[in-house]
Order: sequence, then structure tokens, then C-alpha cells
Amino acid sequence: MNIILLGPPGAGKGTQSSLLVQHHGMRQLSTGDMLRAAVAAQTPIGIKAKAIMDAGQLVSDEIVSALIDAELVAMEPTTGAIFDGYPRTAAQADALDTILANHGRRLDMVIELSVDEDELVRRITGRYSCAKCGEGYHDTSKQPAIADVCDRCGSHEFKRRPDDNEDTVRKRMQVYRQETAPILPGYDARGIVHRLDGMAPIEQVTAAIEGMLAQP
Ligand code: AP5
Repeated sequence: MNIILLGPPGAGKGTQSSLLVQHHGMRQLSTGDMLRAAVAAQTPIGIKAKAIMDAGQLVSDEIVSALIDAELVAMEPTTGAIFDGYPRTAAQADALDTILANHGRRLDMVIELSVDEDELVRRITGRYSCAKCGEGYHDTSKQPAIADVCDRCGSHEFKRRPDDNEDTVRKRMQVYRQETAPILPGYDARGIVHRLDGMAPIEQVTAAIEGMLAQP
């Protein structure tokens, strides 16, 4: 299967993608993660993308579509893909159709997660992760069992994303409303959109997605 998880920043796209990877052996294709890896490695793409990402703006359609295409080239044709954070513009949605067709794939489902704006801000401004193993935490809803010690790997080092401050989060939401939400009607016309209440607890959202995947 090839699935898009669509939703504003903090809607739970990354959280649900990781769970689907664990439960279904699918592959998560997160353009945000790919770009952050490029920034960390100071590649030419990363150097170009850093300021754009820190400002909450979108990196160019050509760059992110090329990243997705390269990932699909390296994947077994039978491995399902979860697109997390891509497409984000009408041009990217068109590019994805072409890329999938070139790889003998088709888009099966678009899952839209909706969450209130105040909750999105709460989720994003409070989140941080272990700098060593990536385990995710939150200032109020998920803290390590022992203060400042990662539950999973014991590291004392934690980090926050540079774009997770309130001003940038609000900018990212505005970009989502202006650039990304308008691609939904095109998918609606194809009858492949499933809408989910992303305000529900993580396990409930996962169960709802599992139910959709189980449908013939
Ligand atoms: P990206 O990394 O894609 O960020 P985003 O879309 O803003 O999404 P987030 O990762 O912030 O949120 P999420 O929905 O994955 O939520 P999560 O599961 O982490 O993009 C970053 C930047 O890269 C962009 O601004 C842009 O500059 C660039 N970029 C990326 N892709 C691009 C593209 N295609 N085109 C152009 N530019 C691109 O959850 C958030 C928090 O909430 C966590 O703490 C989690 O534990 C918690 N949480 C999740 N679900 C629940 C729940 N149900 N209840 C309570 N808490 C929950």
C-alpha cells in the first residue's frame, strides 16, 4: 500500500508513521527527517534548506520530490510506503503521482489528521527528544522516568528542533492552511481521503488507522 498521512505540524503524522512501520513493515518516507539529516550532514541541500526550515517556510518542490524519488528507487516494489509530510503543495501532489507511476505504484489512501490549533502548539512547543537514540518526550505529557535520563538508552543529552518555537509553529500552520490543505479536494475527488480525529489519544488514532488498513 501507498499511503499519505496529511495534517498540520504536530497532528501526529510522525508518531503514527512509526507505529505503522513497526506493525506492518511499511517504510516511512518523511521529507522533514530527510531534510534534517541533510542539515546535520551539511550537504548542499541541507545548507540551502536550514534557514528555510528554521523560518517555517517550505523547501523547494524540486528538492523534496527528488528526495522522495531517490528513496523509492532504493525500495523493494512490494514494500508499502507511508508519505509523512509529503506532498505539501499542489506541485508536489502532481509530482508524487508521476513518481509513483514511474515506480509501478499507485496511491491507495490519504489519511487526514485534524487537531485544534492550541493543542498543536502545546504538542510542538513541549516536545524534545534524546540526542542519542531519538526517543521522543514532552514537557508535560511524557517525561523520562528518571529526570534527565533517557528511558531507552540512558543518555543525558536531549535536544529540541529549532523550528519548534511558538512563532515558527504558527507560521508552519499558516503555510499548511495556504499551501497544503488545498490539495485535499483533489484527493477527495478520487474518493481516497479518510478523515480522523487527531485529538484522540495516540492508541485510539492508531486503532482507527489499523481499521482503515484492514478494509478490503
Ligand atoms: P516536518 O518535519 O514534516 O514537520 P511538520 O509537518 O511540521 O510535522 P511535525 O513533525 O512537527 O509533526 P507531526 O505531525 O509529525 O507530529 P508528531 O507525530 O511529531 O517538516 C519540518 C520542515 O521541513 C517544514 O516546516 C519545511 O520547512 C520542511 N519540509 C518538510 N517536508 C517538506 C515538503 N514536503 N516540502 C517542503 N518543505 C518541507 O507529534 C508531535 C507531538 O505530539 C509529539 O510530542 C507526539 O508525542 C505528540 N502526539 C502525537 N499524537 C498525539 C496524540 N494523539 N495525542 C497527544 N499527543 C500526541
